[in-house]
Amino acid sequence: MPAEARLSDRGSYDAVVVGGGAIGLCCAWRLSQRGARVVVLDRATPPAGATRVAAGMLAPVGELAFGEPELLRMTLLASEAYPGFVAELEAASGVNSGYERCGALHLALDRDEAAELRRVHELQRSLDLGAEWLPPRRCRDLEPGLTPSFNGGVHAPEEAAVDPHRLTQALLAALAAEGVEVRAGVEVAEALLDSERIEGVRTAAGEELRADAVILATGAWAGTAAWLPEHARPPVRPVKGQILELRAPDGEQPCERIVASERIYLVPRPDGRLIAGATTEERGFDTTVTAGGAHELLREAYRLLPDVAEMELVEAMAGLRPGTPDNLPLIGPGELDGLILACGHYRNGILLAPLTGEKIAAELAGVEVAG
Ligand code: GLY
Repeated sequence: MPAEARLSDRGSYDAVVVGGGAIGLCCAWRLSQRGARVVVLDRATPPAGATRVAAGMLAPVGELAFGEPELLRMTLLASEAYPGFVAELEAASGVNSGYERCGALHLALDRDEAAELRRVHELQRSLDLGAEWLPPRRCRDLEPGLTPSFNGGVHAPEEAAVDPHRLTQALLAALAAEGVEVRAGVEVAEALLDSERIEGVRTAAGEELRADAVILATGAWAGTAAWLPEHARPPVRPVKGQILELRAPDGEQPCERIVASERIYLVPRPDGRLIAGATTEERGFDTTVTAGGAHELLREAYRLLPDVAEMELVEAMAGLRPGTPDNLPLIGPGELDGLILACGHYRNGILLAPLTGEKIAAELAGVEVAG
């Protein structure tokens, strides 16, 4: 390892990453590649945060909202860099991430939805996002399984998707190849503090892990990290999302690309599964799958693609997005010396994970990266 790549030789580790979802694993991988000695801790076995439930849409256009130019700048940058990231990760791990630049089609099912979609499309056009308004016939040329009656759609050919489960497997394999420890089932109980500096963590089992930096990548739980002093807990809240996993009996998907309306998105996986998501609910840490949530997703999926009715309903899940007051992620120094935030990615965690990993690794090495 080149001498300048070594971030520090004080302490047992250069960095303890708390949280083993996509964000924490990307941070650990990029840090390790820069020569840092890293350990990842996650309290669940296997890690069970939002990554497990995420649909894996890489969709700067679909997630565009009015008044969020900074978030759009980040999501576009992240989207452009994704193919390079997955190529590097797949080569390092030997695991296919399921990445596909499949494109997305956003439909308006009635006149009101068409008016709203046209308004959003004007914003997309003003930002030169490469999305095209299509009449129903042209939408159906792209996706013959669409409902017979709708008012038009927006095609965004650059949108993509990755399988978050495979992505996690790839990151774990790449970390194993680097010799990075990923410890599941380890709960952090206490911060090791010297006044306003964090010097590591103590686990619930009483083990002390000392490090120059502690990376907080605990998703929706970052704001309630009881092991941090109250003033150092970032403003992150849980936002519940329920999703369904469906499977075509013959492996024939009802769509080739992401198909969405203003109430739902459907993400086809290369292995024949279809993810239908997601509700957006402010219910604290509740992760109950409700009949109402599942009903809404099935109803809206059927309204877009009637063939969904023939699919096997494999699983219903609920996860917690890490929301922030301005919907922007928190990436960089926290309110203690040595505490680094990698949290608050709200609806774009899988998309922003690689960029976050790069930014965190560069931050610790004292280098600036774009984004
Ligand atoms: N990125 C989609 C969602 O959070 O539901």
